[in-house]
Amino acid sequence: MERDIKRLVSQLTLEEKAGLCGGEDFWHLRNVERLGIPRVMVSDGPHGLRKQKDNPDHLGHNDSIKAVCFPAACATGSSFDKELLYKMGMALGDECQAEGVAALLGPAINIKRSPLCGRNFEYISEDPYLAGKMAASFIQGVQSRNVGTSLKHFAANNQEFFRTTVDVIADERTLREMYLSAFEIAVKESQPWTVMCSYNKINGIHSSENQWLLSEVLRDGWGFKGFVVSDWYGTSDRIAGVKAGLDLEMPYSGGHNDKALAEAVKTGALPETILDAAVERILTLIFKYTDNRMHVKFDHDAHHALSAEIEKESAVLLKNEGGPHHGLLPLKKDKKVAFIGAFADKPRFQGGGSSHINAYKTTSALQTAKTRGIAVDYVEGFPADRDVQDPAALKAAVEAAKRADVAVVFAGLPDVIESEGYDRENMRLPECQNAVINALAEVQPNIVVVLHNGSPVEMPWIDKAQSLLELYLGGQAVGEAAISLLFGEANPSGKLAETFPLRVEDNPSYENFPGDGKTVYYNENVFVGYRYYDYRKKDVLFPFGHGLSYTAFQYSNMEIEKPSIQFVNGSETITVSADITNIGKVAGKEVVQLYIEDTTSAAIRPLRELKGFEKVSLAPGETKRVVFTLDKRSFAWYHTELGGWHCASGEYVVVIGASSRDLRLSAAVQVVSNEYPPLHVDWNTTVDTLLKDPRTKQTAEKIVARYFDQSKRELSLEALGSGDKWNERAYFEAPLRHLYMTKGIPYEEVEKIIETFNNLLRRERPV
Ligand code: BGC
Repeated sequence: MERDIKRLVSQLTLEEKAGLCGGEDFWHLRNVERLGIPRVMVSDGPHGLRKQKDNPDHLGHNDSIKAVCFPAACATGSSFDKELLYKMGMALGDECQAEGVAALLGPAINIKRSPLCGRNFEYISEDPYLAGKMAASFIQGVQSRNVGTSLKHFAANNQEFFRTTVDVIADERTLREMYLSAFEIAVKESQPWTVMCSYNKINGIHSSENQWLLSEVLRDGWGFKGFVVSDWYGTSDRIAGVKAGLDLEMPYSGGHNDKALAEAVKTGALPETILDAAVERILTLIFKYTDNRMHVKFDHDAHHALSAEIEKESAVLLKNEGGPHHGLLPLKKDKKVAFIGAFADKPRFQGGGSSHINAYKTTSALQTAKTRGIAVDYVEGFPADRDVQDPAALKAAVEAAKRADVAVVFAGLPDVIESEGYDRENMRLPECQNAVINALAEVQPNIVVVLHNGSPVEMPWIDKAQSLLELYLGGQAVGEAAISLLFGEANPSGKLAETFPLRVEDNPSYENFPGDGKTVYYNENVFVGYRYYDYRKKDVLFPFGHGLSYTAFQYSNMEIEKPSIQFVNGSETITVSADITNIGKVAGKEVVQLYIEDTTSAAIRPLRELKGFEKVSLAPGETKRVVFTLDKRSFAWYHTELGGWHCASGEYVVVIGASSRDLRLSAAVQVVSNEYPPLHVDWNTTVDTLLKDPRTKQTAEKIVARYFDQSKRELSLEALGSGDKWNERAYFEAPLRHLYMTKGIPYEEVEKIIETFNNLLRRERPV
């Protein structure tokens, strides 16, 4: 049924309209019975349904209904598998339909600026391209079940410390490239029904009242069609918020803001048309959901099994050495295996805060091993919830390791260390865990460490562990996935969606994280994560994109469709392809990554950036061709003066690899762009600028030949000795005023030269 929403809006009283722009309670939007506007519910999100019936809260403390806890985004991001995220989204959409929830409050896609952000476990990546693509698939999945999503937290909510008031100071290029791009991709590719704005300020203005962010960028720039909702209690000046583009306030303001909105319309402070537009967008979602209800029954056990499947595709095999063939893993069932560490029995599988799910059931590795008839010797060694050294437990762990052929340590971060609401203090595992691993290494050469954590940890013992399996926070079925992966029933195929630095001090945001509580400066600009580590040639513990398999893959036959690409209207594309072969003995999946390197020097840019990824499944001996399509955006950076994405003409290198530091194939491509940054020539414009700009190059060459080369031989290029760097620089860096200052050319003549250039620029292209 086509609803006439505009007509409905016209039938509402001013007070009803103001009321609809706020929540009725913690999780419900308001209804208007007399006009048949129903009351709908929203729930967290993102990796499970946290539907609360009684005692609502947004801190994750009070109980919600039993639901399936899927792996958190720190894990699913590492799957690099868009289809998998779509599937997970569909399952969550079904749970929402079954429980009468109109929108799931997720996905959360803030960039992992520092490994210390307490909420990193809920976020996808340090890379905006990956985060955006994965989020888009997840949203498409949920929304395919006629349930909305809320893409959050828009934007630059990259820490928990004073998250409701902190002012993020970042330049526009940094924001656009690093902190907005993921949202842009997700909005353009999946049109989430809602976007949730962040608590923090950006350059002095709260996101909830930021006109530039909510209207210019999100709606006008990207074409967002849904409504914007505040983060819970995230409004400050409600009238400014509605004007800026914030439609719905959640959960409520004790009635204050409803009255204030109606009053503002009466006094003329808020045009009623703006309020009407917000109401129209809110009603559109309400009816999109209620008019398209699907009567789904979901099967908890099937979703539990799906949760295990997703985790198997997401876990990352970070290290695997020391075995007879390739590595210690996969384990043989006939070996004597000791499981050490309480996480084997009580796995940590989700984070704390608003995403906390009341998991319908949990399976540990220990329990799964028993069910599958795998004999293991278990000792606790250390607790899963705190850092206490217990000499007796340590001794028992050492004894168990001595008795075994292999010791598998189930380590991780206790709940209290990692949560929404506060950041981590350091990047360490509890000392009791490090102590056990170190002690085991004294008696047992075969050590496997299995990690349960939402973000990177330092590993002082890394050289003592032969194998390392990163499970992240793997959802309620994590134990099943762990056993399948450890014993080779499943082949690991996840890759890191973030860098593991050696030490937290190596992180580029270190000096400026989390700031003084009032302001945080994003001084590292676009050099976030691998963009920084690669540029600075820093050793890392594990690089972005890294992940091993029980098989091996060969990369060959790279082909670029054509040697050059010209961007005229920005819609042109070029394809790049390569063969990937499974050269091992077991089936496996490889995440093939494509990075672009800009060699034009037109801007200071990271060495390479991820612009494509595909996960391919290959039987032993099988080869598949992977094809990537690149467009202007793949090569571009955000040019603030142009107010848009720009790529300079010149050479770019396309690199295909198995990680950001395992680059296997590369080929160059020439980009021809007809877009020029604004240039106005004046007395201080340098020779270098004029020679580099294709519009002024020819004329500049003539002027150089005439005035520089002939008048003063020492300034001519030919006359320069190769070591005479200063003269060479003086030549290129000479501003045009030097023509009358040092070359005796009349001032008026130089004025004419400047005018000639500017006329030329006007003719070449109106910028
Ligand atoms: C969180 C949001 C969440 C909301 C509702 C807030 O504290 O930042 O991500 O959706 O609470 O629980």
